[in-house]
Amino acid sequence: MKYKKGKFFIENIRVDRLAKLFSTPLYVYSKKKIEENIDRFKKEFISVDPLICFSVKSNSNTEILKIIKKKGLGADVVSYGELLKALKAGIKPKKIVFSGVGKTKKELEFAIEKNILLINAESINEIVEIEKIAKAKNKTIKIGIRLNPDTDAKTLNKISTGRKENKFGVNTNQFLKILRDYKDSKYLKISCLSVHIGSQITSHKPYEKMLNVLDKNIYKSKHSFEFMDLGGGMGIRYNNNDKVLSYPKYKNLILKFLKKNKSKIIFEPGRSIIGSAGIMLSKVTYLKKMSKQNFVILDAAMNDLMRPALYGAKHDIIPSKKNSTKLEKKHEFVGPICETTDKFLTKPNFQRLSQNDILIIRDVGAYGIVLSSNYNLRPIPAEILVNGNKIKVIKKRQKFKDFI
Ligand code: LLP
Repeated sequence: MKYKKGKFFIENIRVDRLAKLFSTPLYVYSKKKIEENIDRFKKEFISVDPLICFSVKSNSNTEILKIIKKKGLGADVVSYGELLKALKAGIKPKKIVFSGVGKTKKELEFAIEKNILLINAESINEIVEIEKIAKAKNKTIKIGIRLNPDTDAKTLNKISTGRKENKFGVNTNQFLKILRDYKDSKYLKISCLSVHIGSQITSHKPYEKMLNVLDKNIYKSKHSFEFMDLGGGMGIRYNNNDKVLSYPKYKNLILKFLKKNKSKIIFEPGRSIIGSAGIMLSKVTYLKKMSKQNFVILDAAMNDLMRPALYGAKHDIIPSKKNSTKLEKKHEFVGPICETTDKFLTKPNFQRLSQNDILIIRDVGAYGIVLSSNYNLRPIPAEILVNGNKIKVIKKRQKFKDFI
């Protein structure tokens, strides 16, 4: 994705053309970028030889899941719907892991029926439920236990999951008790230790702490685990001055850990695979000059992209066509929704804009469309996949008749 002679292209397609063809707001993904991200991830961790299970919650478009499947990845799912989607995309059950604190009986039964690789249980209650189902089906099934390592991921508060005050996983005492209680179970085989400390992690240090906690707990338990599911969380660069995670440092920590604790590593990356592969196109509806700032009122809003309003996330905004006007001061990019928090970004300088200009909101591939809603009764945007010169509508824009 880059400018060619001042015009922004996604692969070989000029984005202005897409905006004209399909209208805005519009999600657009680059197939090549998805594949590059996967190749890079695989290459960085090649010596770890992991099973990579794409976190479907970050983007569940079937066409995107198919690309991911073709690259050999499995799936990390958290609901019946996500499990159905992963299977529909052709991902083999033996490459699917199921996490989440509140899996219902129906969800567990379906996962067991489909013989997925692992259910990562997050409470004693859940393990009791899984054992009941396995017993009724007279099956022995492999499960994981998600440990809450009480480790601060040093990320946004709202997306941190590994501290003891968070609802995820079991604590050390519960972990050890489960291993004792189910040691000789006929129906459950505890074959995985799983953990996920948060998302958009930009330093290897929290992972180092997490691995130390795992190491201590494995030592205490004297249990040998076939799998170690380390979750996802690898952060990406949204803005030029964002820090990025050093994959080599994280990889070395894992290799050291594996020397003591031999097992198959599972990763559950979402954002690092799909985040940078998606953009959203939006048109300038109005410009409003106020004493302190210029409001740029877009046709995209918080219902289309929730991350800024929900987490204070900053997605860069750039023009689809560069012009040679002088930079103007302080632009505030906002949506039309009747909430002050419907604001994407403030930029100190920006080229002069006109009504109907197309803007690009960057890095929205992960947790973009999946978090969209009909708030203010606005339809969910269309999704487009670009592959070289080819354009494919991978999800149609929602029609008003579908929800009114
Ligand atoms: N595994 C588990 C158990 C998870 O809960 C998550 C994300 C992942 C894997 C994938 O994490 P990733 O590699 O994408 O960081 N909506 C928020 C992010 C929520 C993440 C929830 N769990 C956002 O837009 O920043």
